Amino acid sequence: MAQLEPRSRRGPRLFQVLLLPLLFHFFQGRDFCAAKAGGPARQSQYRTWRSTPPVQRAALPILGDTLQLLNGKTMSSYQVDGRRKFGNVWKTSVLFKKAVIITGAAELAEAMKQESRPNATKAFFPPHHQRLFGTQSLLMQSGPPHRKLRRLVQAAMIPKAVSSYVETINEGVSEFLEKCKSQDGPFSMVEMLRTATVTTMLKILFGRQASASEIKNLIEDVSTWSDGLLSAPLTFLPWSNAARAMRARARVAKIIQGWIQSCAEGDGTLLSRLVFTEDEDGARLTKEEIVDNVFTLVFAATDTTASSLSSSFLALSRHPDLQQQLREVCSEEDMETVDRNLDAFLSEVLRTSPPAPFAMRLVEEDLEVSKVPVPAGWLMVYGFAGTLLCDAERYPQPKEFLWNRTFSDGQGQSLDEAAFGGGPRMCPGRFLAAQVAKTVLREVLGPGGFRWELEPGQDLSQRYTPGLFPVDGLQVVLKK
Ligand code: HEM
Repeated sequence: MAQLEPRSRRGPRLFQVLLLPLLFHFFQGRDFCAAKAGGPARQSQYRTWRSTPPVQRAALPILGDTLQLLNGKTMSSYQVDGRRKFGNVWKTSVLFKKAVIITGAAELAEAMKQESRPNATKAFFPPHHQRLFGTQSLLMQSGPPHRKLRRLVQAAMIPKAVSSYVETINEGVSEFLEKCKSQDGPFSMVEMLRTATVTTMLKILFGRQASASEIKNLIEDVSTWSDGLLSAPLTFLPWSNAARAMRARARVAKIIQGWIQSCAEGDGTLLSRLVFTEDEDGARLTKEEIVDNVFTLVFAATDTTASSLSSSFLALSRHPDLQQQLREVCSEEDMETVDRNLDAFLSEVLRTSPPAPFAMRLVEEDLEVSKVPVPAGWLMVYGFAGTLLCDAERYPQPKEFLWNRTFSDGQGQSLDEAAFGGGPRMCPGRFLAAQVAKTVLREVLGPGGFRWELEPGQDLSQRYTPGLFPVDGLQVVLKK
């Protein structure tokens, strides 16, 4: 199985290279929006920046809070500090645009409700991301076209679909377990988890059509492609990461197109669901839509799920009593009890270490959030991390790791979905993510699992790269 380049080596580049395209667009005076369909954001009815209520943060000139918000080290702490100083909603500028940062469960719900209006907001991504994901990616589409596309794509990830991937997930998790158990010395749990999640996701997507060597090549190409997302958009230089990423994309796209031709209806793969699902008008996804969304799913699924698992291993290492308690739960026969306990634990892991700390929208129609006007042309930043880490109304004693918050309230669903966003762009992959994460935890903590120790002297502080991982890759050694 191919090992990916350690994230710790890639991480710092994200921040540097994001600034290059941003500067380019700033000086071009263009709208920095990936979804071109709606054209530039309309002029606001609100007249000036200064006419809005005084919740403005004093930020750097020009750059505003761009550096803090995009830096992998401060992405979460920026939101936590801002909320403490300025309340749940504050104004600043980000990526050369005036912006409002929104934290708080109630405020986010209010903003997302407004996002449901057909043309209220647009997706907001750098232009080279548009090329790498493709224009038909869910991430790049907005408004009614996004909704139409999303209905077809998410059909491949609803709980019923996820239950048909269980066998593939179990196989992926067994491989992961065997590989961990065969390690003689210390190893990076983060790298092991990243490789396992990307391999499993590719098998869910393509099933037996993909041979072991094809999966290996795909993993390498996907890794090269995702490096391009974190690199300067120098596609005109053939040896640049960006050009390499585009070539990797072309190779993967060619393979996917072949598999789209040959895949059979009901063959159990996610690809087959994407190919054959029809909407209420009998329309199916086009080849281009499928290819672009396969890239999107691989990207959206792997780092986030690996991050949630890496944070789970870290939390279990830091709370040995809880680890023991969950081991006892995982030896039980009653799968419903196991599931409910793991849901609750995973919810608290996602709350305290959110893999996706924020999302951005370009406002197209004047809005108001928590009585703060958000004019057209501004950015709206959803502060998921600020909410999850600080909202004491929703999470009493938010600084504590209380693993059974959702379990103990005994109210229906035991997986808190707040880390998966909300509104029309809420994560459609949450059921799949939870299934994969809980299968790993159940098998590792169950009777056939393993015990581990953290290697001493490593840096366990976490950084976004873009998922949230410990700086030194969570070095562990198995207890024999
Ligand atoms: C623990 C794991 C995961 C977390 C925490 C997570 C979190 C999120 C969040 C917060 C969003 C909303 C972003 C926004 O508002 O713009 C999102 C969107 C998305 N996620 Fe996930 N995600 C996870 C796993 C997955 C998986 C496994 C898949 C696919 C198999 C997936 C596919 C997507 C897609 C396609 C979107 C874009 C939806 C749209 O724009 O309509 N995610 N995710």
